[in-house]
Amino acid sequence: MTDITMSELQKMKNNDEKIVCLTAYDATQSLLASSHGAEVLLIGDSLGMVVQGNKTTIPVTMPHMVYHTQCVQKLNQGSLLIADMPFMSYDSIDNALKHAKALMQAGANMVKPECGLWTVDIIRALTQQGIPTCAHIGFTPQSISLWGKPKVYGHLEAEQVQLIELASKLQDAGAHLILLECVPPQLAKTITQNLSVPTIGIGAGPDTDGQILVFYDMIGATSNMKPRFIKNFMTSKTPSIQEAISQYASDVKSGEYPKPEHCYL
Ligand code: KIV
Repeated sequence: MTDITMSELQKMKNNDEKIVCLTAYDATQSLLASSHGAEVLLIGDSLGMVVQGNKTTIPVTMPHMVYHTQCVQKLNQGSLLIADMPFMSYDSIDNALKHAKALMQAGANMVKPECGLWTVDIIRALTQQGIPTCAHIGFTPQSISLWGKPKVYGHLEAEQVQLIELASKLQDAGAHLILLECVPPQLAKTITQNLSVPTIGIGAGPDTDGQILVFYDMIGATSNMKPRFIKNFMTSKTPSIQEAISQYASDVKSGEYPKPEHCYL
């Protein structure tokens, strides 16, 4: 695979071709995912749970993210790499710039903060310094202490208006991608149609421009909480990790995944 750039992802949106994304935390996952159809790899702070065994993403630090970004970068076969900005690493514009710089120097092509209105200026400052951003909205796991538990965001009309406006402000500030987590499918569709930049969904229905899953969820290896958008692609028909990734990629491309049972209707 030739190196995927943001302009390829933009072309995919423009041509109605779905974007395949997967998390990766180490070099082997990176090699497997990038050579079996994942166009985007996210070094997600979900590593706090699935790698480190914590209950939330809050204990994840900048040194952790830099380390895992370096690991993923080494065997990547051309996927676009997005690194999560961990909890409280973008509490000011100065900190956001300093920490995004470290992630880009570790090999990321883009950084992903969890966003609200308060991050619009941060997205603008990162863009002005040449750092591409993926703005994560909807359910934002780093604010779990406020949310109480993972929740769907956007069933209420006020939430819908707020999320549509937020996505558009983040795009205007320079965000190159918008990631929607746990959002009703109709709202995700409206946001996707309103924006010129691609959207990536997780628990956001079939109409976002791309889909992402946590690597271990995609192979049925996570044991505790199972949100409804998770699908195990490692089955008797696709018994190896390589086959499972290829099946996931092909089901995202064809629109076979996600189905209504994976959505918060
Ligand atoms: O950290 C992560 O894996 C994420 C996904 C849930 C999108 O942010």
